[in-house]
Amino acid sequence: MEAATLKPPVNPTVKERALAWIGPFFLLSAAVYYWILTLVLLPIEQPYPKDLQTLRHRAFSKLWLAKGRAMSAEMPGKTVALIGLARGRVLDIGPGSGEQLHRFNFNDGQITELWGVEPATDMHPLLRETAKKLGFGDKFHPLACGAEPESLVPALAKAGLMGQMSGGSAGIFDDICLIRVICGVPQPEETVNGLYKALKPGGRFIVSEHVVNPWPQPQGNVIGRVMQFFWQHVGGWKYLMGGCQLNRDTKSMLLNAAKQDGGWAKVDLEWVNSWACVPFIVGTLTKKE
Ligand SMILES: C[S@@+](CC[C@H](N)C(=O)[O-])C[C@H]1O[C@@H](n2cnc3c(N)ncnc32)[C@H](O)[C@@H]1O
Repeated sequence: MEAATLKPPVNPTVKERALAWIGPFFLLSAAVYYWILTLVLLPIEQPYPKDLQTLRHRAFSKLWLAKGRAMSAEMPGKTVALIGLARGRVLDIGPGSGEQLHRFNFNDGQITELWGVEPATDMHPLLRETAKKLGFGDKFHPLACGAEPESLVPALAKAGLMGQMSGGSAGIFDDICLIRVICGVPQPEETVNGLYKALKPGGRFIVSEHVVNPWPQPQGNVIGRVMQFFWQHVGGWKYLMGGCQLNRDTKSMLLNAAKQDGGWAKVDLEWVNSWACVPFIVGTLTKKE
C-alpha cells in the first residue's frame, strides 16, 4: 500500500502556521490564470458553455488538469489507506481526472464496480484514459452528472441501478467516496442526504473533506477561521475555485444525514490540521444494518 500521507505538524511552529494561512494565495493565483485562459479561449472551444456552472467547471477543469496531480501526491491523514479499503459496488463522487483511481484496490475482486460521478466533462477523457491504463476494464463507469439528487437519480436510473433500491430504502452502493468534493456541490445538504439513501445497510461513506475551521471548539483556531473567511469572501475563492467553499460545515451535514435512522452505526472521523484555514476531516461513517 502506498504511503503518501500528509502528516500534520504535531505542534506547528509560527512559521508553519503562517505558511498554511497564506497557502490559498498560490492556488488562487493559478485559478485566476486559468479563468483568464478559459475566457480567452471561449470563442473557439466547443461546445459553448450553456450556463455559468458549465463555464465554472471548464475553468476548474483547466486548473485541475494542470495542478491536480501535484495536489494529490500527498493526501491528508489516512485518506490513502481508506480509499484502499473501498469494496463491492463503489461510488466515487467527483473523481476529477482520476488522480485517486490508482489508490482503489481492484485485487482479488475487492471492488466489483466503480462508478464515478463527474459533472466536469472536460475531465472525462483523462479520467477514462487513467481507468483504462489501470486495467479497470468494464468495471469502471463514469457518469456525466452531478451528485445532487436531481442530476444523479436520473443518471443512475438510466444506468439501470435505481430499480435495485426496493422501496427506495435498500440502497445501491457498498461504499461512497467523498474525497474533496462536498465543498463544491451546489446543494450540499440535499446531496449528502441523497447519497446516504443510496448507501446499502452496513455501507460506508469514505470521507476526506476540507471543512469549516472548528473554532471556537478547542480543536479550532481563531486565526485559521478568520483567514478561511478572508480567502473565501475577500480573496475570491468562492468565485474562482469552481464553486468550492472553504467554510462549509460538511461534518455536521454528514453526521445529520443518518438522523432518520437514529444515527450512524459507527463514526470514525479524525481532524487533520484543524487549526488551519483548510482543515480536513478524514474517516468513515457506517450505516446501520
Ligand atoms: C477538488 S476536485 C477533487 C477530485 C478528486 N475527488 C480528488 O480528490 O482527487 C473536486 C471534483 O468535484 C467535482 N464536482 C464539482 N461539482 C460536483 C457535483 N455537483 N457533483 C459531483 N462532483 C462535482 C469537480 O468537477 C472536481 O472534479
